[in-house]
Amino acid sequence: MVVREQEKDSSGQNVNRFSIKISLSITSLICKDGGVFVLVRLFYEYRKKNFINIERKILLNPGPATTSDSVKMAQVVPDICPREKEFGDIMEYISMSLADVVADSKTHTAVLLGGSGTAGVEAVLSSVIGENESVVIVNNGAYGKRMCDICKIHKIDFAEYSSSKIEQIDFKDFENFIVEQKKIKNNLKYISCVHSETTTGLLNNIKRVGDLAKKYDLQLIVDAMSSFAGVPIDMQEMNISYLVASSNKNIQGMAGVVFVIASKSLLSDHAHKTPRTLYLDIFAQYEYFIKTKQMRFTPPVQTLYALKQAIDEFKEETAEKRYARYRENWKTLREGLHKLGLKTLVSDEDHSNIITSVIEPTDIKGYSFESMHDYLYKRNITIYPGKISDQNTFRIANIGAIDKKDILLFLGELKNYFESLK
Ligand SMILES: Cc1ncc(COP(=O)(O)O)c(C=O)c1O
Repeated sequence: MVVREQEKDSSGQNVNRFSIKISLSITSLICKDGGVFVLVRLFYEYRKKNFINIERKILLNPGPATTSDSVKMAQVVPDICPREKEFGDIMEYISMSLADVVADSKTHTAVLLGGSGTAGVEAVLSSVIGENESVVIVNNGAYGKRMCDICKIHKIDFAEYSSSKIEQIDFKDFENFIVEQKKIKNNLKYISCVHSETTTGLLNNIKRVGDLAKKYDLQLIVDAMSSFAGVPIDMQEMNISYLVASSNKNIQGMAGVVFVIASKSLLSDHAHKTPRTLYLDIFAQYEYFIKTKQMRFTPPVQTLYALKQAIDEFKEETAEKRYARYRENWKTLREGLHKLGLKTLVSDEDHSNIITSVIEPTDIKGYSFESMHDYLYKRNITIYPGKISDQNTFRIANIGAIDKKDILLFLGELKNYFESLK
C-alpha cells in the first residue's frame, strides 16, 4: 500500500515513507513465487521512467548542430516562470559567459533575444543604423545578401560591396569603395560583414575589415553566426562594435536564442535613435535587462537551460580545444574527400574550417545529391545541399558535438555509397 507521508531521518532531512513501504513490499515479494520476476519488472519500469535513450544522429549540416545528451537533457527542468529571479540569474550568467567568448564581460555584454539567427541580424541592423545614417554591406554570399534585403525592408540607407563568393575580399578595391562612398555620403557610419560565409565556407578576413573600419572611423557590425565559438574572435583587436550569433551552431546549444554582443557603453549610447521595431530593439532589451534581468517578451525557457549547459561544456572543453577539435575534424574531412577524388570550392587559406562546399561529381553514373543524402540519412548522417547558383555543390559542416571518429565514419559511408552505384 502506498502512503505519502514524510518523516525526518537521523540528520534531520525529510524522507519519504512512500519509498520505505515499496522496499518492504519488494522484500516480501521476493520471498514468494514469481517475486524475482516482479522485481525485475519494477527495475525496468523505473529505468524507462528515469533514463531516456536518445538515438545519436550525426548532423553535418551547418547547424542546428549535433548536441551532447547532457545539453538535450538540460531542457527537462521543473516548470518555472521566467520572471522569477532564479531564471534571471541564469540569463545573466549566459549573457556574461557569451560576451567572454569574444570580449570581456566587464566591458561587454550579450543582449539575448528569442528567435533564429536572422532575427539577430535584423535586430542589430534595424536598431543600430539611425535614420540619417548609412552602412556599407559586404555581399559575398547568401548571408551578406540577406543583410541587404533586411536594409531594403527597413528602408535603411546602404551601399552594397559585391565581392567574390569563393575568394578573399580584394582589400585594395574595398578600401577604394569605402573612400568613394565617403565622398558621396557624409553619413556613412558603419560597415556590415559576415565573418564565416556559410554559403561556401569562405572566411572573410574580419581583422582587415576592422582595420579599414578604424581607419575610416566606421563601426563594424559582424554576423558571426557560423564562426562564434568555432574560430578565435577578439572584438577589441578586430575593431568589431556589434557581433551577432546564435545558440545552435558552434556553442552547441539548441535553436531559439540569438544574441548581439557589444560594449555596454555603445548599448547605453542610443538616445538619438528612433526604434524601427518593437520586438527587435536591442537597446530597449539592454535597458530592460539591466533593471529586471528579464527578456521583455516570453523567452524560450528550455532553450536557455540548454544554452547554459552548452556554455558550461564549452568552458570545460576550453575555447582552444574546441577550435582545435573543429580544425582536426575539418582536416580529416578535407583529406578524406580528396582521397575519394572530390574537389572542394574554397582554398585552404581562406577556409573557415567550419563548413566545406564540395563540387558534385559529374563522372559517377547514377549519382544524385538526393540519393546520396538518403543513403547517408538512413545511416544516421545528415548532409546539406549547396547554396550557390553558378556551381553544383553540396556542403559538409564539421561542427557540433562530433569528432574525428564521426568524420571518418561519414567518409566510410560516403565511399560505400559511391561503391553501391557501381
Ligand atoms: C552566417 C549566417 N548568418 C545568418 C544565418 C541565419 O540564421 P537562421 O537560419 O538561424 O535564421 C545563418 C544560418 O545558417 C548563417 O550561417
